[in-house]
This record gives sequence, structure tokens and C-alpha cells, in this order.
Amino acid sequence: MDSKIRLVPLFTSQQISARIDELASEIGRDYRDSCPLLLGVLKGSFVFLADLARRLDFPVELDFIRVASYGSKLESSGRVKLLSEPVARVKDRHVLMVEDIVDTGLTTDFIGGWLKSKGPASVKLCALLDKPDRRLRPVEVDYRGFVIPDRFVVGYGLDMDEKYRNLPGISVINGE
Ligand code: XMP
Ligand code: MG
Repeated sequence: MDSKIRLVPLFTSQQISARIDELASEIGRDYRDSCPLLLGVLKGSFVFLADLARRLDFPVELDFIRVASYGSKLESSGRVKLLSEPVARVKDRHVLMVEDIVDTGLTTDFIGGWLKSKGPASVKLCALLDKPDRRLRPVEVDYRGFVIPDRFVVGYGLDMDEKYRNLPGISVINGE
């Protein structure tokens, strides 16, 4: 690991866990009887989705969509590409997209457009983190964990150059 990089804790795993309990009860109120398709956006959402799904005490299905947004390691480039589509049927399903973070909104906008072209019954978004300062597309976050300032964060699934995804909490990267 680069010795110039400092990680400054932002949310502990306990804080994240407490917030996910709250999100899970909101989601339960809305989806209890509709067996939603929880659609994790890879790779960043894998930890969040695993924790969130285990808090839901009603039937759900799970699948993943994988996209890449190209750019330097700390910036989205504005170009989003579909790398892998879900196997699950989307048509006539209630789809809940699960994202690690919404930043410019380009990724969410792209996936939302792709999903809507498949004829779902509904599409909503659950994002653990919302970084509204750099938004380029209007995005409605239906279930939001935390709003954060315009800083690059890692941990709990979020990476810098594919590192730090395994950290249990979320930290701000300093020293870049
Ligand atoms: P957009 O800009 O399309 O961003 O809303 C979505 C994707 O950009 C990545 N991203 C981050 N990744 N720490 C990260 O580890 C961050 O602070 C950050 N901000 C944006 C992430 O892949 C997200 O899905
Ligand atoms: Mg990334």
C-alpha cells in the first residue's frame, strides 16, 4: 500500500450496520408482498447487498449487473459500459437497484435506462452513499444510507484501484 495515502475513518461498521437496519425496515414496508428483484451493481455493492439482503425478512430474489465507467482512478469519465447483464427476468418484476454510491449519477442513469427498456413493473434505487455535489444527471435515491461530501471514499465494497474493498468501515482517502 502507498505510504503517502492516509485513510480517515468516516463510518464505522457499527454505524453502517445500524443504518442498514433502518433501510431494511423502510424497504420491508414497501416490498414485503411483491418479491422484489434486488439488483446489485458490481462490484462495489457486493458487501452492502449481502448485509442488506440478510436484514430482509420476506421473499426476495437476487441478481447482479456489472458496468464499468472509464476514467482515472478517482474520477468517473462519463462513459458507462454494460459488462454483464442480469440472468433474472426483469420484465414485470419490481426491481430494486442496490448501489454502493451515487456520485455523478451517470452509472445509475445508464442502468435505469437499460432496465426500463426491459419492461419492469417498477424500478427504484437503494444507495448506501449519496455524494450529491458532483451530480450530472438527476437521480432519485429512494432509499439512501448516508449523504457524504465530495470526497473519495473506500471500504465496505468501495475501492481505489481495486484495493480497500475488504475494509469493514468506510474511510476518506487523503494524500492523493
Ligand atoms: P457515478 O459518478 O456514475 O459513480 O454516479 C458511480 C461509480 O463511481 C465510483 N465512485 C466511487 N468509488 N469511492 C469509490 O470507491 C468514491 O468516493 C466514489 N465515487 C464514485 C463507484 O464505482 C460508483 O459505482
Ligand atoms: Mg471503483
